[in-house]
Amino acid sequence: MVIARSPKENQPKIIHVTPSHQYPLGMTMSFERRTALLDFARSHNAFIFEDDFYAEFRFTGAPLPCLQGIDNFSRVIYAGTMSKILYPSLRLGYLVAPEQLIDPLVKIRSTIDQHSSAIDQATLARFITEGFFLSHVKRMRKLYAERREFFIKEFNKLLSDRFILQIPEAGLNFVAWLRCDADFARVARVRAEIGIKPSPLSFYCIQAKLKPAFVFGFAAWTPAQIRESLLRLASALK
Ligand SMILES: Cc1ncc(COP(=O)(O)O)c(C=O)c1O
Repeated sequence: MVIARSPKENQPKIIHVTPSHQYPLGMTMSFERRTALLDFARSHNAFIFEDDFYAEFRFTGAPLPCLQGIDNFSRVIYAGTMSKILYPSLRLGYLVAPEQLIDPLVKIRSTIDQHSSAIDQATLARFITEGFFLSHVKRMRKLYAERREFFIKEFNKLLSDRFILQIPEAGLNFVAWLRCDADFARVARVRAEIGIKPSPLSFYCIQAKLKPAFVFGFAAWTPAQIRESLLRLASALK
């Protein structure tokens, strides 16, 4: 990995990355890139903000350590969230930070919004310490792995003549690239009516230079809903 920056450019103070899964394209950062990024942060005296929002949802490929776990120089601030594994409106997450940052981080947090709900935090703490969280993680990983497999199978069966499905190692979404640009308008027209509501990839771009594609989530839908939606999409494209 080459992270080149001329000395004339502003040097980073903090680098925000999502190594488990880049949303929406789905890349996972390799071990080599992780160690190279840590070396870069150390040599530039920068911090890395490791936003590990999809940590629990790695479905294939060898396990990879988080940056924070292989950082020997206190350069990484690790952020986890309950938004994906439990639910977003809980608004609870956590940081694992180098000791010298704890006081400033606590001050920043109390300036922003004081603190999270104490009752929600205490309830979550019991949920974790009494073992329910771990069994919940295992259950959801199994459920989502099944939905993921089902989605891949049905999508390729019904729509592989129209799309190329890109299959990431982690995360709860797929990017499907259109084989023919002219299909974009037809998919865009029916997307709100087919149930699982794919979003145009261009929605996530400041300047859309990529080929036309759609982002499909699979976690919130049962196999029956996935099949029904993909059937509708396939018939709209006939
Ligand atoms: C890149 C990224 N980080 C973190 C999160 C989770 O954010 P929060 O914990 O505020 O819900 C999301 C949510 O979708 C996200 O897209």
